[in-house]
Amino acid sequence: MVQLKLPRNSQVTTGKTWNEGQGARSKAFQIYRWNPDDGENPRMDTYHVDLDTCGPMVLDALIKVKNEIDPTLTFRRSCREGICGSCAMNVDGTNTLACIKGIDEIDGDASIYPLPHMEVIKDLVPDMTNFFAQYRSIEPWLQTVSAEPQREWRQARRDREKLDGLYECILCACCSTSCPSYWWNSDRYLGPAVLLQAYRWVIDSRDENTGDRLDNLEDPFRLYRCHTILNCAKACPKGLNPAKAIAELKKMLVERQV
Ligand code: SF4
Ligand code: SF4
Ligand code: FES
Repeated sequence: MVQLKLPRNSQVTTGKTWNEGQGARSKAFQIYRWNPDDGENPRMDTYHVDLDTCGPMVLDALIKVKNEIDPTLTFRRSCREGICGSCAMNVDGTNTLACIKGIDEIDGDASIYPLPHMEVIKDLVPDMTNFFAQYRSIEPWLQTVSAEPQREWRQARRDREKLDGLYECILCACCSTSCPSYWWNSDRYLGPAVLLQAYRWVIDSRDENTGDRLDNLEDPFRLYRCHTILNCAKACPKGLNPAKAIAELKKMLVERQV
């Protein structure tokens, strides 16, 4: 059997313990740390956070650590409302948004890593360059050939309803980074988030570039690396189902051939 071992400089070591014994109701957060500038291996630091003086969400704990314990901890966040997608990370083994993940949902010590199988810029910040380049490649804007209307593009209620379950996607990448096919082929497979977005434009009754959009997806890697494993639907913190959108795209590609 093939033995896979991380290169020596990628092995995660045990890091520092911070603030132990502080606060009557303290919880330990084990957090992945890596700094590209110090030449050190990644490590797991343990921060003890007093829950009596902390907000209820995992992001509150991270902000408290940064503000009060260790200002070098690096992570992304913006809205704190589950809307911007910035705070996506792996908490307790699951990809999620730190701002809507309750601390009380985690038994025992919490472990926090960056989104899996992405290159890391620093600590909990993944490099999203490839992800957003793939998003750009599906041309995520309305494309029409008809003359522009004087007012807004009109849409029947039943056509508008076809966008439900799609428009809510916040491009957090929790789904794509939980997809085994995307882990191994993220250079060529678009992954569930971008394919859900692609379907969002294909199915939009106002868009008039459906044929080109489907041509762009008809490729053994860009679309067909989805093997219906369904990790994506389980991972989505917004309750969306990218696998269903992918299945609809495959169906449309078959139907246009018959
Ligand atoms: S259903 Fe497709 S996109 Fe979703 S996790 Fe499985 S392989 Fe990935
Ligand atoms: S489908 Fe869900 S998990 Fe995937 S990017 Fe959109 S909101 Fe995030
Ligand atoms: S901070 Fe915006 S989704 Fe969490």
